[in-house]
Amino acid sequence: DAGAYKNILVSAAGNGVTLITLNRPKALNALNSELFTELNEATAAADEDPSVGAIVITGSEKAFAAGADIKEMRNKEFAEAYKGNFLGHWTKISQIRKPIIAAVSGYALGGGCELAMMCDIILAAPNANFGQPEINLGVIPGAGGSQRLTHALGKSLSMEIVLTGKNVTADDAERHGLISRVVREGDVVEEAIKVGATIAKKGQVAVQAAKEAVNASFELPLAEGLRFERRLFQALFATKDQKEGMGAFAEKRKAKFTNE
Ligand code: HXC
Repeated sequence: DAGAYKNILVSAAGNGVTLITLNRPKALNALNSELFTELNEATAAADEDPSVGAIVITGSEKAFAAGADIKEMRNKEFAEAYKGNFLGHWTKISQIRKPIIAAVSGYALGGGCELAMMCDIILAAPNANFGQPEINLGVIPGAGGSQRLTHALGKSLSMEIVLTGKNVTADDAERHGLISRVVREGDVVEEAIKVGATIAKKGQVAVQAAKEAVNASFELPLAEGLRFERRLFQALFATKDQKEGMGAFAEKRKAKFTNE
């Protein structure tokens, strides 16, 4: 029940898209434990809902998220962080099977940048600002920043960001491949929903397989990744959507996928 959430807003954006808005505006959407638990619940619910084909996560105009909640972390001790697997539950977002699009305006710093990078596609407003400023707090990125940023940007720029704490602009992020594109001011959420709606119209078995295959490229050596891709490709010939998709092409009509 969406009304039960305190730190996020969840709504149906139409055309098979669920919109999740991080909603701690006074703290620039700093990510506390409760917010992440809610985000996990909301994304898991969307993942299970057959009427949903894609998820959009956004924040406010000023901040996608300014990082993990520093005030909440401030007095943590090692034993507590370790025993409680602090931040362990953050990675659940990356296990969601449906595509997630981050619509980033303003600050995406620290855990906020990491959250955006856990999404499948990042679209950014011109004022978006990405960075991993943890070094200024005496720590380092803890939810994938050192790994996903490096995969996206390469070693040199990632090192500069992680070691100096400097941020990069939306244009820089686009130029270096961190995001797919910068969207005109004021349009980023609408555009993300459009992309989500486009995806939601495809056969959902193929969409899930495509996401799985692309993600495998981050984990598997090339030969294994190619084998994995080919098996998934072959498996899709067992679906009705493949018969429908190829049949519709041959018959010069529009495909009507049933997600089977
Ligand atoms: C807790 C935060 C916060 C954060 C902002 N706020 N970021 N609270 N945790 N990460 C709060 C401020 O304390 C302030 O609350 C309010 O939001 C508005 O912020 P201001 O600083 O007044 O705004 P502004 O001057 O515009 O500066 C914006 C900013 C700055 C540059 C983004 O807030 C900032 O540097 N924030 C911290 C960024 C950061 O270090 N992120 C990494 C966090 S560590 P009050 O009550 O004073 O109004 C991290 C670790 C990840 O993410 C590890 C794995 C997840």
